[in-house]
Amino acid sequence: MQLSEQNTYNIQGIDPHQLIEDFGSPLYVYDGSTIKRKVSELQHAFAGINMKIKYACKANTNLSILRLMREIGVELDVVSPGELEIGMLAGYAANQITFTPSGVPFEEVKTAVDAGAIVNIDSIPLLKWFGQTYGNTKPCLIRIKPNVAAGGNIKIMTAHADSKFGISVLLLDQILDVVKKYDIKIVGLHQHTGSDIKDAEPFLQVADILFEAAKHFPDLEIIDLGGGFKVSYLPGDAITDMDLLGRKITERFKKFCSEYGRELQLWFEPGKFLVSESGFLIVNATVVKEDPARNFVHVNSGLNHLIRPMMYGSYHHILNLTNPGGEPKVYNVVGYICETDTFATDRTLPEVSPGDALAFLNAGAYGLTMSSNYNARMRPAEVLIDNGAAKLIRRRETIDDLLLTQIEI
Ligand code: LLP
Repeated sequence: MQLSEQNTYNIQGIDPHQLIEDFGSPLYVYDGSTIKRKVSELQHAFAGINMKIKYACKANTNLSILRLMREIGVELDVVSPGELEIGMLAGYAANQITFTPSGVPFEEVKTAVDAGAIVNIDSIPLLKWFGQTYGNTKPCLIRIKPNVAAGGNIKIMTAHADSKFGISVLLLDQILDVVKKYDIKIVGLHQHTGSDIKDAEPFLQVADILFEAAKHFPDLEIIDLGGGFKVSYLPGDAITDMDLLGRKITERFKKFCSEYGRELQLWFEPGKFLVSESGFLIVNATVVKEDPARNFVHVNSGLNHLIRPMMYGSYHHILNLTNPGGEPKVYNVVGYICETDTFATDRTLPEVSPGDALAFLNAGAYGLTMSSNYNARMRPAEVLIDNGAAKLIRRRETIDDLLLTQIEI
């Protein structure tokens, strides 16, 4: 989103008010040029090694976003048969897709493997089942839990000792026994540290743990370091310095490869880093309530559309698109759901009047994919702006969509 000299906001030259006019409100809007920029930032940072990006599509599964990713050489990480199907519908070949399940029924793993995807095994029971089912006929990766606590928020940390994710590195002997017993073809080691990780240090720490474990697996082709790069939610927020991270990891990875005796691929699975900044949730102020305790701005949206503030206490920057130069005033920005659905507390915004268009920033990741129909509210439409043209990529839901699966008896 740019602020022009005339003090009006635009996305690739398009006025968001025009988008509301054309597509309605509330509205998810994605800027394709930002996604392309983020992908090339990552590619640039790791240019010295054989690095593959596997977009963690749980962040945003719109088919048009996935097609865009595919066109610019990004592959896919999925966590369910549904995401696998959406990925293939977007034109991905199954062998470009990694399935990274978390305690799923084994039939789901079978669906993914039989379709041709590669799987990250996340438990000893699944490893045994995989060995019994496929022996050495299908390759797989093992998701290691390195027991490292890193990340911005306990709810999105995944590599600490108490986390449910992966197989603890302390169980390496057991892993090796099972692998040997069934002659399982382990082609990669995987780990995902968590989300919102700013510094290079935790990535290096877990990389070293994987490199150490890797010595026990002679047939590796891949080291997968997951996702989790920190993006800027607050203006001026410190984010992952991708060039620095790239330099440090590349150096360490090259050393590891030469010790291992072979050039391996290094995979990353970012979600947020690729799509968060590209997305805006555009809403309208409905009621401005001057309460003795607080000024409330209600908007025509709520935790049903963007749950991150209520779920993680996340900060999403808010712009007043209609009155950017207005007098600063302090508000609680709240939704229309019959729950306390506070988007922002004590937020200074240019004065808001009913009807003003507001934009929540960083809504491209974990926005619509975590939305719901709570209070029988419809999900917003989605628009992708690419090469200067705004296109509808998901229509707004209707009451018929809500009732589609109900059966009257
Ligand atoms: N790989 C695996 C195995 C994951 O579980 C995740 C995210 C990612 C990659 C991508 O992480 P990212 O690069 O997006 O941080 N809903 C939360 C984030 C939790 C994501 C869960 N797994 C949020 O809105 O902050």
